[in-house]
Amino acid sequence: MIRIGVLGVGTVGRAVVEILEQNKAIITARSGEEIVVTRGAVRDVNKVADLTIAMTRDPYSIVNDPEIDIIVELMGGIDLPFDLLQKALANKKAVVTANKALLAYHRYELQESAGDIPFEFEASVAGGIPIINALRDGLSANHILSLQGIMNGTCNFMLTKMMSEGAEFDTVLAEAQRLGYAEADPTFDIGGFDAAHKLLILASIAYGIDAKPEEILIEGIEGITQTDIAFAKEFGYTIKLLGIAKRDGDEVELRVHTALVKEVEMIAKIDGVMNGISVIGDRVGETLYYGAGAGGNATASAVVANIIDIARAGKRSPMLGFNHPLEEGLRLKHRDDIYSKYYLRLRITDKAGILAKITQLFANYGISIEAMIQRPFAQECAHLLISTHEAREKSICELMKELETLDTVLESPYRIRIV
Ligand code: NAP
Ligand code: HSE
Repeated sequence: MIRIGVLGVGTVGRAVVEILEQNKAIITARSGEEIVVTRGAVRDVNKVADLTIAMTRDPYSIVNDPEIDIIVELMGGIDLPFDLLQKALANKKAVVTANKALLAYHRYELQESAGDIPFEFEASVAGGIPIINALRDGLSANHILSLQGIMNGTCNFMLTKMMSEGAEFDTVLAEAQRLGYAEADPTFDIGGFDAAHKLLILASIAYGIDAKPEEILIEGIEGITQTDIAFAKEFGYTIKLLGIAKRDGDEVELRVHTALVKEVEMIAKIDGVMNGISVIGDRVGETLYYGAGAGGNATASAVVANIIDIARAGKRSPMLGFNHPLEEGLRLKHRDDIYSKYYLRLRITDKAGILAKITQLFANYGISIEAMIQRPFAQECAHLLISTHEAREKSICELMKELETLDTVLESPYRIRIV
């Protein structure tokens, strides 16, 4: 059994506890180990009175507890978690953290202290998107030419609402805080510092560069007004807060600022709390990563993935993901039983009564027509274009076969599934 101590059981910490409990069967099958949260640290134990885990106000008692195998740091801040994680590593405990502020300042010292002890931080950048895994492992054959994108869910959520609903800055910030997206001190978000912390972590992995937040260009979204938004809309732009890392000869450019982005660009379409990061490698070309950048569950998904990885005790994940089959099992759904909406194109003879005959066949197979257009295209000849409500694959296949036998249907019906 792997025992976890969680330092900070707030938005993310609580979701970690819940995922490990509620997804226990699949997590055990993937890791090959039972993983249990045995202890948690908070300041106010009343907030977590509903949880059955032993709680303490003293996080040091957890990092010094010989029974704990993995320390999961989800409390935020810099100095205190730095000291706690240094002690955890000195005690040979594996570490998982989502704390980008800590890593923005101390990532190289922590790497030095960790040595061979696992230290993982997937959730520190772009919430649930496995960008660190992709950059560190998936793209390791490449020189990274650039990486750029939306790295702060709170700002993207706020800018989206300000653009689409004309919402006021303070109102949308309060909503982002209520939804658990914002940092304890939201000036980290709106000032661009949180995005900068993430950019520095990615830049280390991409370029091996040790820079501090104070050394790079950081501007936030505080100055954006509805006047700027009106201009952007009029000229076909949207406004985004971007983090950009770019190689330029033997230099690396690092910057965070708002930008007018043409509405047709992919990045302009990333709305709400979603994050999206484009990475260009010299060999692979452009790759894109998209997903929820903040929030308890999305972030905890990445934290738990790191825990599972560590629980495998250095062993690679099994070739096809599972150490042992799931008890409840899963079987393949027969292709006949797949349900979809369909578009059908029929080429028909345009004569009285034909439409009635065709629609009767749809009814015979229990397939409901959603919309229909007839387009004449030659003498007594027409295309009949039909979309259906959800129907079973087997029923559509049988209907198409029967339609094909009709003298009035001039060629095999053609179908496209509507998704
Ligand atoms: P949160 O909701 O404020 O939770 C913080 C937790 O840490 C609370 O349980 C708090 O206890 C506890 N804590 C703080 N200081 C403590 C201390 N001195 N001793 C003991 N417990 C202490 O924060 P969060 O949103 O979960 O974020 C946690 C970390 O994840 C941060 O580093 C954040 O940057 C990072 N992160 C968050 C998100 C997100 O979407 N929220 C996404 C990615 C990364 P009390 O409640 O009793 O004060
Ligand atoms: N406050 C951060 C954001 C949390 O809004 O993106 C995720 O790192």
